[in-house]
Amino acid sequence: MAKAIEIRPLAKEDEREGFSCGQPDLDRFFQHYAGQNQFKLRLAVTYVASLDGTIVGFATVAASSIERANIPSARLRKRLPAYPLPVLRLARMGVDTRAQGLGIGKALLRYTLTLAVEQRDRTGCVGVLTDAKAEAVSFYRDLGFVPVTEVREGLLHGEPLPMFLAIGTVAAALDR
Ligand SMILES: CC(C)(COP(=O)(O)OP(=O)(O)OC[C@H]1O[C@@H](n2cnc3c(N)ncnc32)[C@H](O)[C@@H]1OP(=O)(O)O)[C@@H](O)C(=O)NCCC(=O)NCCS
Repeated sequence: MAKAIEIRPLAKEDEREGFSCGQPDLDRFFQHYAGQNQFKLRLAVTYVASLDGTIVGFATVAASSIERANIPSARLRKRLPAYPLPVLRLARMGVDTRAQGLGIGKALLRYTLTLAVEQRDRTGCVGVLTDAKAEAVSFYRDLGFVPVTEVREGLLHGEPLPMFLAIGTVAAALDR
């Protein structure tokens, strides 16, 4: 990417109206709900990628948990206890259509992985969980995410696929 992008938490005064990633539900979320979720309800934090002062992408994260039985690794399931385990949830992500394909999605995802490492070191975190839209499954797979369950029929109807990246493989993903 030629120009440097800055990734930082969403600010109340950020201009979000003109943003469009091509998915109306994600655009609506970013324009109308990301702010209140962060500043009033405190249930998630949105990080924005800004290029020359314009917001070109966002990623919303929240603390969450996963049941041991849903961890898609037999080796990990064996080692972990049978109660809900802490994860960082990548709840939503979008890159403006005018800026897609420039590496911004990957940069936001890498940033999210560094947040997971921070969470690991401060309060514990066994991995990153996301709900991948059908079109974005290969984007996440390329970074090492694996489906939480085998592909469900729902995916055929456009339902998102839950995907997981174990904290032990985050370092490798950060090198990709
Ligand atoms: C999916 C999305 C976030 C990717 O962001 P982006 O900035 O366009 O992606 P990048 O330029 O960082 O691409 C990173 C890699 O993923 C690939 N990629 C990008 N979009 C992809 C997609 N939809 N499916 C598969 N691969 C994709 C790129 O080819 C690139 O591969 P490379 O590193 O080998 O060159 C963006 O296209 C988007 O906002 N799409 C619409 C909303 C959406 O689907 N969000 C995800 C919800 S789960």
